[in-house]
Amino acid sequence: MQCRFMIYRFDPEKDAEPHYQSYVVEAEPTDKILDCLNRIRWEQDASLAFRASCAHGICGSDAMVINGSIALGCQKLIRDFKTGNSFVIEPLPLFKVVKDLVVDLDPFFEKYRSIKPFLINDEPPPETERLQDPTDQKTIEPALSCILCASCTAACPINRADAEYLGPAALLRAFRYLFDSRDSAGSERLAELDRESGAWGCKTMRWCTEVCPKGIPVTKCITRIKTAIRRKEKADGDAHV
Ligand code: SF4
Ligand code: FES
Repeated sequence: MQCRFMIYRFDPEKDAEPHYQSYVVEAEPTDKILDCLNRIRWEQDASLAFRASCAHGICGSDAMVINGSIALGCQKLIRDFKTGNSFVIEPLPLFKVVKDLVVDLDPFFEKYRSIKPFLINDEPPPETERLQDPTDQKTIEPALSCILCASCTAACPINRADAEYLGPAALLRAFRYLFDSRDSAGSERLAELDRESGAWGCKTMRWCTEVCPKGIPVTKCITRIKTAIRRKEKADGDAHV
């Protein structure tokens, strides 16, 4: 069938304003949105810019807005949309547009790096590996599926209102290390997150959880960070008595 794609186009180096460009593509109901974008770029307009790599929901590079909802182009099929054969494709909100559907994710990765996304443990390494407690593994397992697609952060209304807020993806990664008993920087991590632009910035609006293409309970994980902060404060307070 023939599908019409209205695609956001903007080249800041050439265009004064963004505009939408229309393309008609032959597609099957089982084709991915990404397949159609590729077809447009390969067969009609090589100037169309978008990111994609794995085409299987692994690399996290093709998050975009499809008919008003944030999703991965490689995870959505033509038949998933009730709008029939008509599609509007836009870049992720929140981030500056580099060109067309490509946005500048530097601020996203800066916040991600700021939470120290690596295991901190200064003890001498054991002879074999550092074994993980199975209970910890179960707790952090959902967070391990994060592909850093930035959908949650783009969807979060707090992130849109407060540029300083760490955002759901960075908080989720902090959760992953906080609840891993092999990491010994828990207290420092909690102290760093105990601020309005940290864990307390989350107002449990759950938009992050709703858009996450990996089905991660992001809001729940952030709430567990807040609980851990409260518990630590209580424990520290008790220790001072
Ligand atoms: S938590 Fe989900 S939406 Fe957010 S970056 Fe990770 S995979 Fe993407
Ligand atoms: S292209 Fe890799 S997640 Fe879609």
